[in-house]
Amino acid sequence: VTLGIDIGTSGTKTLAIDATGTILASATANYPCDYPKPGWSEQHPELWWNATIQTIQQVMARANLKGEEIKGIGLSGQMHGSVFLDQSGRVIRPALLWNDQRTAAECAEIEEKVGGREALVRLVANPALTGFTAPKLLWVRRHEPAHWERVRQVLLPKDYIRYRLSGTFATEVSDASGTLMLDVANRRWSYELLGKLDLDPALLPACYESVEVSAQVSASAASETGLAAGTPIVGGGGDQPAGAIGNGIVRPGVVSATMGTSGVVFAHTSELGFDPLGRLQRGCHAVPGAYHVMGVVLSAGGSFQWFREEMADSEAHAGREHQVDPYELLTREAALAPPGCEGLVFLPYLTGERTPHFDPDARGGWIGLTVRHDRTHLIRAILEGVTFAMRDSLELIRAMGTEIREIRVSGGGAKSDLWRSIQANVYGCDVAIPNSTEGPAFGVALLAQVGAARSFNTIEEACDATIKTVDSTAVDPKVRKVYDQVYAVYRDLYPALRES
Ligand code: XUL
Repeated sequence: VTLGIDIGTSGTKTLAIDATGTILASATANYPCDYPKPGWSEQHPELWWNATIQTIQQVMARANLKGEEIKGIGLSGQMHGSVFLDQSGRVIRPALLWNDQRTAAECAEIEEKVGGREALVRLVANPALTGFTAPKLLWVRRHEPAHWERVRQVLLPKDYIRYRLSGTFATEVSDASGTLMLDVANRRWSYELLGKLDLDPALLPACYESVEVSAQVSASAASETGLAAGTPIVGGGGDQPAGAIGNGIVRPGVVSATMGTSGVVFAHTSELGFDPLGRLQRGCHAVPGAYHVMGVVLSAGGSFQWFREEMADSEAHAGREHQVDPYELLTREAALAPPGCEGLVFLPYLTGERTPHFDPDARGGWIGLTVRHDRTHLIRAILEGVTFAMRDSLELIRAMGTEIREIRVSGGGAKSDLWRSIQANVYGCDVAIPNSTEGPAFGVALLAQVGAARSFNTIEEACDATIKTVDSTAVDPKVRKVYDQVYAVYRDLYPALRES
């Protein structure tokens, strides 16, 4: 048995799996996020630790597990966040999270100190995004010098939990890729970048591969959690790479398209590849020696949620009364409109956009309204527009030379037949649903099966044995043609609107 623990933004999820990948029990504990000023987003790491203890205990009770039966632990979590520790390992201030936007000036400073965006992309494989970790360090150094003076160690969220479980400072390559401080190509910290930013390498923990054992549960954490002292903890992964493992994205050509609030297109690649503009996020995969590229659509399911909350209240109430999922009702309406919505196109940039525009000021909208359009078109255009935004990332992945043979869909966009068929026809590729829906926690429990419990020799073998696709939706060539035409229009709209 192994445990997977995912330190998410809205809660922590822990699950236990056996050597066949069967889930024995799972538990979730939620917590809030603080937004102390517009654009700021923080959480106190103690919340994560309390949720970790609680969910470990619940899972062990539910599956009737003793500490000694757990052969390994995998950790996953929200990426890019920064935990600042003093010399006794105490938290100095709340962690700045991945969706915190306060660091625009520091991002500009990093690009300038390194000699421009292309130079930065060469060093760390990514441009400076406000959510990344390095600009957060610079922000605290500039704005909170009294705090900065006391900082001796900086950790990512899941690595703070590793520290609480074991007393060891360690990270792994997939999450470290999102710090902007990793030499992604060589899978180690970029001393060159750290030098240019005048950051002491001693602030950063040791960096492992995701399947490697990085720490052991300490005696004090054992008594707090019920785990056995000495239980090995593998590197684990950032929530996106770990979720990709959970979807079986461990070979070139197999890509996932996951829609939660945001949408993520994630591809496994054998080589790092290069795009001087850094329009895709690139990093080490949780598969030893492999890489990933990833595109992020900020308001994917979020656009649909906005419509339900702001424009469809009565339907939502009707849904609640009749025990029908309100999204299901809206999707049924959307199915009444034809593919392409008779020229109506929706831009999903309701919270700006990350890939491919990197524009926090991008704005959404419906374009092409006529009196012939009704609610059914408005709703269907949202599903189509979000899917076009996902296709933008797929096109960038294709342009980097990665062939796409199979797309695995999950999250809200995979639940309805309609949205799945929109995805197949917009992507121009059949889409399949994987059997595991447990995401990152499952992915890292599987890493622990490989690296600690040794139930499998490789992560590929573990995925082949435990992850299957259960349903598939095929491309309809006629509809695909319609979507190719509308996608061309969609692509032209953002640049046209930005210039005006
Ligand atoms: C990835 C990203 C999010 C966070 C939060 O780049 O920003 O997926 O990891 O879940």
